[in-house]
Amino acid sequence: MKNAIHDLISKLDLKPHPEGGFFKETYRSKGVIDESHLGASYTGKRNYSTCIYFLLTSDNFSAFHRIKQDEIWHFYDGSPIDLHVISESGVYHKHVIGIDIKNGEVPQFVVPGGSWFAAEAINQNAYALIGCTVSPGFSFEDFELKSRDDLISLFPDHKEIISRLTHF
Ligand code: GUN
Repeated sequence: MKNAIHDLISKLDLKPHPEGGFFKETYRSKGVIDESHLGASYTGKRNYSTCIYFLLTSDNFSAFHRIKQDEIWHFYDGSPIDLHVISESGVYHKHVIGIDIKNGEVPQFVVPGGSWFAAEAINQNAYALIGCTVSPGFSFEDFELKSRDDLISLFPDHKEIISRLTHF
């Protein structure tokens, strides 16, 4: 499995992501939305839309983070993923992203902008390859990772899952 993962990372030219896992941007629209047409929380202009490959393995996870825009997840291959979402008002839900539809997995899921989310491959010795699409296009200006302690003080009811799925 380690070799298969190494091959995927190399063939798709994936790089480590600050939240964990590996990614490669595959699309960034040429069109640009001016700051005056974006919500007040955006600083600067943004491309209409962007898309990435995102790879998780059993040895890593995507730590709790948030972005301003809704993020559409598309399942491509490998292990199903547990996607943990805490809404801005503190409501927690787990969604299983995968292709086993009859058992409740969903191949597509939209994470609402502003919610905190983390993800992990469910199977051992495995990888999960997905796509993530956002509009307005992605900018690290709209991306926020918080520390374990800060997130626990915001959402004390979810201490256990936050402790497990944060890096610092
Ligand atoms: N580009 C770089 N990082 C990300 C990310 O976390 N999500 C999306 N959609 N695009 C990105």
